[in-house]
Amino acid sequence: EQIEKGGYDHFMLKEIYEQPNAIVDTYRGRMLVDKGIIRMAGVDDNIEKFTNAKRIIIVACGTSWHAGLVAEYIFEDIARIPVEVEYASEFRYRNPIINKNDVVIAISQSGETADTMAAIKLAKEKGAFVFGVCNVVGSSISRETHAGAYTHAGPEIGVASTKAFTTQITVLSLIALKLAKAKGEINNADFHYHLQELDLIPGKIKKALEANDHIKEVAKKYMNAANFLYLGRGFNFPVALEGALKLKEISYIHAEGYPAAEMKHGPIALIDEKMPVVVIATKKGHYEKVVSNIQEIKSREGRIIGIVTEGDEDVRSMANYVIEVPDTIEAFTPLLTTIPLQLLSYHIAVMLNKNVDQPRNLAKSVTVE
Ligand code: G6P
Repeated sequence: EQIEKGGYDHFMLKEIYEQPNAIVDTYRGRMLVDKGIIRMAGVDDNIEKFTNAKRIIIVACGTSWHAGLVAEYIFEDIARIPVEVEYASEFRYRNPIINKNDVVIAISQSGETADTMAAIKLAKEKGAFVFGVCNVVGSSISRETHAGAYTHAGPEIGVASTKAFTTQITVLSLIALKLAKAKGEINNADFHYHLQELDLIPGKIKKALEANDHIKEVAKKYMNAANFLYLGRGFNFPVALEGALKLKEISYIHAEGYPAAEMKHGPIALIDEKMPVVVIATKKGHYEKVVSNIQEIKSREGRIIGIVTEGDEDVRSMANYVIEVPDTIEAFTPLLTTIPLQLLSYHIAVMLNKNVDQPRNLAKSVTVE
C-alpha cells in the first residue's frame, strides 16, 4: 500500500497532487488547441440530440452532483442551454417530467451508484437520450447510458473525491464549449481563448498546490472549530458546497456551504469570533459583492479565510488569512479554487487524527439505496 501511495501519506493527498496530470489526461486527444477543435466521439456522434435539446437535466449524487452544479453555470453561460441539476435520489421518485428532446447527463465517478443508475433507467423509459460522465471504464453506468465520455482521472481510492471532481468539470466544460460552437453561441476567437485557458489550467493547479505549507498553518489555526461556513457566488457557489462537504466527510466538523448573498437569510446569525468562514472571492464577476459580504462577516467578528486571485489586496486587508490561486477566465475558476479547499480539509483531518482515506460511515461507492 505504501508503494501505491507513491510516497504520499494518504491516497487523498496523492490524488490531490495528481490533478494537473489527471486533467491533461482528460483533455488529451480531445482538445486540439492549435486546430481550435474539440473531438469527443460520444458527443460528435449525437450532436443533433444535444443541439436540439430544449434543456439538459443533470443527475448525480455527492461530489458528482456538485460538479453538475458547476456545469449548470458553464452550460448556461457558454452554450445558452437551460440546465437543471437533480439529486438522482430525488429525481427518481418524483415522477419527473422528461420530454423526448431532453438530454440527461448522468455524472458518476464509480459508475455504480444505485440512485444514479435508477435515475438513468427512468429517463430512458421516458424516452430521453442519456449521456454518462464516468471515471471507471466499463462500469455499470457507462454501459447503461446511450453514449458518454470518460474522465480518465485514473483510480480514485480516497473516499473523499478530489481528482474525479475536477476532471468531471473538465469534461463538462469541453462538452459545453463544443455545444456553444455547434449552436453558434461563441465566436471563433472566444472559443479559441477558452481552449488556451483550459490548456493552462494544469500548470495553474500546480501553482495553487504550492500554497500547501501556508494552508497547513491555516488548518492548524482552525482545526478545533466546531463549525465552518463556506461562501461563494456564481460559478464558485458549488465550490463552497464541495469545500464544506470535503471538511464534513473527513474531519467530522460540521460545515455548511452557502451562496454568499444568502448569508443574510440565515447563516449570518451563527457568525461570531469562533466561526471560521471560508469565502471564495476571486477577482471576477461578483467580486465587489463578495467583498461586501466579507465586511459583514468581519463586523460580526467572524474569522475570514479568503480564497483570492493572486495579487489581491482588498480581501487581504480584511481577512485573517488569504490563500491565492492564479487568475483564469471565470468559468474555469472552480478548477483552481477547489484546490485549497481540498488541502484545507485534508490537513485538518490529519491534525485531528482522523482516518482520511476511509472516513467512518462513508463508502467510496454506494451501490444500495
Ligand atoms: C459516495 C462517495 C462520494 C461520491 C458519491 C457519488 O458518497 O463517498 O465521494 O461523490 O458517492 O459517487 P459517484 O461514484 O456516483 O460519483
